[in-house]
Amino acid sequence: MNETAFDISLDSFRDGLNAAVIGSSGGIGRAFVNHLAACDAVASIQAFARSDVTIQQSKVVSGRVHLEDEASIVAAANQAKDRVGELDLVIVATGLLHEDGMHPEKTWRSLEADSLSRAYAINTIGPALVAKHFLPLLSRESKALFAALSARIGSISDNEFGGWHSYRASKAALNMLIRNFAIELARHNPAALCIGLHPGTVDSRLSRPFQRNVPEGKLFSPEFATYRMLSVMNGLKPDDSGRIFAWDGAEIAP
Ligand SMILES: NC(=O)c1ccc[n+]([C@@H]2O[C@H](COP(=O)([O-])OP(=O)(O)OC[C@H]3O[C@@H](n4cnc5c(N)ncnc54)[C@H](OP(=O)(O)O)[C@@H]3O)[C@@H](O)[C@H]2O)c1
Repeated sequence: MNETAFDISLDSFRDGLNAAVIGSSGGIGRAFVNHLAACDAVASIQAFARSDVTIQQSKVVSGRVHLEDEASIVAAANQAKDRVGELDLVIVATGLLHEDGMHPEKTWRSLEADSLSRAYAINTIGPALVAKHFLPLLSRESKALFAALSARIGSISDNEFGGWHSYRASKAALNMLIRNFAIELARHNPAALCIGLHPGTVDSRLSRPFQRNVPEGKLFSPEFATYRMLSVMNGLKPDDSGRIFAWDGAEIAP
């Protein structure tokens, strides 16, 4: 499927919606920004990243967020509020699986306190702090949605293979926070949702070292995965808040 074939509809949201994407330098985050920029229903996109990313699109305003620096998250939320007042869609597309000195563990013997802390810092605490400062910006009147990229392997009931301890545990903890925030968010706006998303296995920096065993046809382009996740988000209703959904709309059990 080439990019021109992606027909994005966000018609369950207010027309002229304002979106924010945190992690716009990543494979998935960047594809979200591009799709949103191409969608007529979207009025503005605030694209935040740790690194300096320039996106040449009139609807897109860039900014910086470093997940380990809460002040940068506060500044980003203030920037979004000053520009558009309320947001209709916030997507947290950041995440960490591996970096220098950190690799998914195959056994408990490989556990390192530093890797566990890094995974929690980026995959759990960072998105939680983004939620702290961005959930209050969600529209109080129409459908509004806060989504954080989680992962199927953060599901406790779906865990049949074990391993990848730090990543799994950090995503499971994120899933619990998503559920907690959903309960609180319903008091802010009963039409608002807080959800987690599993994108499938997507060709990006994060998955690159682990793509060898992905079955034929199961390694998605970021464009395809984000197109499907936007369709899922468009179809969700308030009762779906607090849940985790895969790219194809299937719910992932906690
Ligand atoms: N790709 C997959 O197959 C797959 C599968 C399941 C779930 N996911 C989830 O999808 C999400 C996006 O992954 P991806 O595949 O797009 O990976 P990616 O291309 O590696 O992007 C990761 C993003 O996270 C950002 N980030 C990392 N640490 C940060 C920090 N301290 N402060 C601010 N930003 C930080 C990166 O910023 P920099 O550019 O500055 O490094 C980048 O924008 C992750 O939550 C991942 O767990 C991915």
